Amino acid sequence: MDLYNSWLILLLLAEAGFCSADQLVMPAMVSGVKGKNVNFTATVPPSIEVETVTWSFIPKSGVNVPIYVAMLLKEKVSDAYVGRVTYYRTVSTLQLNALTPADGGSYTLTIVDANLNQLVGQTELVVLEPVADVKITSNLLEAVEFNSTVILTCVAKGSSLKYSWQNNSIPVVVDGTHMVQNGSQLIINGVFRADLIGPISCTAKSPLESSTSDTFNLTVNYGPELVTKTQVPAAAVLKKGSNLTLSCSAKSSPAAEFVWLFNGGELPQKTATVVLSNLGEEQSGNYSCMAYNSKTMRYISSEVTQLSVLEAISGINISVSTSTFIAGNSTVNLTCTSSAGKADSVHWHKDGKPLDTNRVIFSTDKRTLSIPIVQKEDAGEYKCELKNKISNGDNKYNMLINYGPENVAIKGDKYAMEGQTMSINCTFASVPYPKFQWKFNGTVIPGETTACLIISGFQSENSGIYTCEASNLVTGLKNIATHNLMVKDSAVQESQGLSKEEEYGYCITILKKRKPQKEHLDLLEQFFGHFVFFFTHKMIPPGSWKNCLHKWKTPLGLALPLPHTVFRPQSLEIGFLSRNSYLPSTCPVNFSLVAQENPTLKFALLLGIF
Ligand SMILES: *[C@@H]1O[C@H](CO)[C@@H](O)[C@H](O)[C@H]1NC(C)=O
Ligand SMILES: *[C@@H]1O[C@H](CO)[C@@H](O)[C@H](O)[C@H]1NC(C)=O
Ligand SMILES: *[C@@H]1O[C@H](CO)[C@@H](O)[C@H](O)[C@H]1NC(C)=O
Ligand SMILES: *[C@@H]1O[C@H](CO)[C@@H](O)[C@H](O)[C@H]1NC(C)=O
Ligand SMILES: *[C@@H]1O[C@H](CO)[C@@H](O)[C@H](O)[C@H]1NC(C)=O
Ligand SMILES: *[C@@H]1O[C@H](CO)[C@@H](O)[C@H](O)[C@H]1NC(C)=O
Ligand SMILES: *[C@@H]1O[C@H](CO)[C@@H](O)[C@H](O)[C@H]1NC(C)=O
Ligand SMILES: *[C@@H]1O[C@H](CO)[C@@H](O)[C@H](O)[C@H]1NC(C)=O
Ligand SMILES: *[C@@H]1O[C@H](CO)[C@@H](O)[C@H](O)[C@H]1NC(C)=O
Ligand SMILES: *[C@@H]1O[C@H](CO)[C@@H](O)[C@H](O)[C@H]1NC(C)=O
Ligand SMILES: *[C@@H]1O[C@H](CO)[C@@H](O)[C@H](O)[C@H]1NC(C)=O
Ligand SMILES: *[C@@H]1O[C@H](CO)[C@@H](O)[C@H](O)[C@H]1NC(C)=O
Repeated sequence: MDLYNSWLILLLLAEAGFCSADQLVMPAMVSGVKGKNVNFTATVPPSIEVETVTWSFIPKSGVNVPIYVAMLLKEKVSDAYVGRVTYYRTVSTLQLNALTPADGGSYTLTIVDANLNQLVGQTELVVLEPVADVKITSNLLEAVEFNSTVILTCVAKGSSLKYSWQNNSIPVVVDGTHMVQNGSQLIINGVFRADLIGPISCTAKSPLESSTSDTFNLTVNYGPELVTKTQVPAAAVLKKGSNLTLSCSAKSSPAAEFVWLFNGGELPQKTATVVLSNLGEEQSGNYSCMAYNSKTMRYISSEVTQLSVLEAISGINISVSTSTFIAGNSTVNLTCTSSAGKADSVHWHKDGKPLDTNRVIFSTDKRTLSIPIVQKEDAGEYKCELKNKISNGDNKYNMLINYGPENVAIKGDKYAMEGQTMSINCTFASVPYPKFQWKFNGTVIPGETTACLIISGFQSENSGIYTCEASNLVTGLKNIATHNLMVKDSAVQESQGLSKEEEYGYCITILKKRKPQKEHLDLLEQFFGHFVFFFTHKMIPPGSWKNCLHKWKTPLGLALPLPHTVFRPQSLEIGFLSRNSYLPSTCPVNFSLVAQENPTLKFALLLGIF
């Protein structure tokens, strides 16, 4: 009988004015939890004078079992229920303890009143399992982000359970695609790394009670991603012998493993940081790292670093094809090498200026400079400069070109007074300094092997053709010049100034009466190396030094050229600097020799004391 009908009957009875109703109001169904208590409560119309109360139980299958009977003064609990029931008369409530599943079924209350009217009520007891052992199980022990479908199941003991999920105590909101709830299951498709950090819990709820699981979390493996590679030092070009530290990092769970790739191969190091010490040039190339996650089986590669390891350039040397160059006849090959380091660029300079590319030929690597036919203008200082990204250096080679003698000519007067001392000079252009031989009328004048010829006490038989023969021992060339010298009437004699030095030519001749002493020779040679001059002071009269020269009698000039590498005078001056105080002669004994060259190389000071 349902609630509605019971109330309807009561209502009808009340309206009819009858005091006796034959139904009791009871809930159609009550629930109890196994092991706990349940109350069956009936609403008895107040007009009823209760005489006897009878509770009985009709199991799902089986016959009516009396539970309890009470009369005005007496009550009786049937044997099967002793200790399990209590009846509260005032509220018409029967309490049943320690429920078991067997208690499920119909419970009937029958009340007889003083008029022997019988009122009957009935209710249905459902014995529920207690909610217990709520826990979360997962289909997977660990998951892979995006790939795994995680199915969490809320497992619980209990009856008529409903399930709900909490994420860090906040109810989980499912979206029906990524996250779906199906009964006790929470299904997460293509799980995200943060989905199950939770902590996650589930609650199982029966109509009477609920219980929540322990928190649960599941590792979702992800990555690697965001791989970054760092390099110390960061430069793309490093010096040979330097150290390099490469580090790789990536976001990954579990932590990524690393593999280093070098020019397509693998380095033996499998660590996040790799130290390459004492780098060699063979370690130039492309470096990258690869992060690998063995759980997700995914990998990711870093960007590639192109590294160059270079050796610093050192030991630059210019080598020469031959040591002696002859103008117009030699081929010059200058080759620039370095004992260590590879050069990216080669630059050549001559005398500080770029080379005239019309005169020189470069090899394709520019390391060899060739001048097919060398000329005297090619002489100079050649500089080779080698550069690479980390260093540079240079070296120089001073190239000397042998040439001549050229422009051989004789300077001097054409006429001489009898008794006069005549001097005629041979001018020339030559490297190295040439050898001379003077001839008179085609006949060798013995001992006259300097650029200057002095004829003291000129006589008419000295008139004739004078020839200067200049020979260059290196070029093997010989050139001559001729000069006519005649006796002249004294009336016609011109003043004999000294002729100025010609370009490239010089002549220094000092007359001497007695031989220089050995120690003086040594002294002077040691001093100069270039030239040694001997002269005697007592010949030199007071006044102009020009006059001194005129009075000297015997030529004793001696020229000792240095190795041709050094001396190439373009002009030469002779002058007197001071008077020698302790020599009685008024003629100066000190003079300087100044050689102006391009480039300026030597300065010589001559001290003569004979
Ligand atoms: C049953 O009813 C009695 C009496 O009113 C009350 O003391 C007890 O708490 C009730 N038990 C339950 C489980 O409601
Ligand atoms: C929900 O679970 C039941 C059984 O547990 C299954 O038969 C049904 O297909 C599931 N539904 C969805 C949408 O997964
Ligand atoms: C739990 O909360 C975090 C943070 O709000 C969220 O990222 C995650 O997806 C949630 N997980 C579930 C199962 O709702
Ligand atoms: C869940 O996470 C907490 C802290 O993050 C950790 O202490 C606990 O061991 C985790 N539990 C599981 C089952 O992974
Ligand atoms: C490179 O590292 C080594 C030790 O591994 C150290 O001895 C050396 O000095 C380092 N070289 C440079 C150039 O820093
Ligand atoms: C390094 O990489 C560059 C560009 O990808 C490539 O041109 C070069 O050949 C590579 N070098 C080596 C040694 O593999
Ligand atoms: C993840 O899924 C992709 C494509 O669906 C598959 O190729 C890959 O093997 C899966 N990874 C794992 C670890 O199962
Ligand atoms: C330069 O090279 C030449 C021959 O090629 C060699 O004789 C000379 O010793 C070298 N000089 C240096 C400084 O290496
Ligand atoms: C000079 O170099 C050229 C080419 O550069 C070569 O043909 C020639 O043989 C070289 N000469 C010498 C003397 O080395
Ligand atoms: C030298 O030659 C000139 C002209 O040819 C001649 O006049 C002179 O007599 C010659 N002198 C001697 C000493 O042979
Ligand atoms: C100059 O070159 C020619 C031929 O090329 C040769 O016969 C001659 O000996 C060379 N002269 C010198 C001084 O080397
Ligand atoms: C010859 O040279 C010397 C020394 O340079 C000079 O004194 C003399 O005047 C010169 N003679 C002539 C004729 O030029």
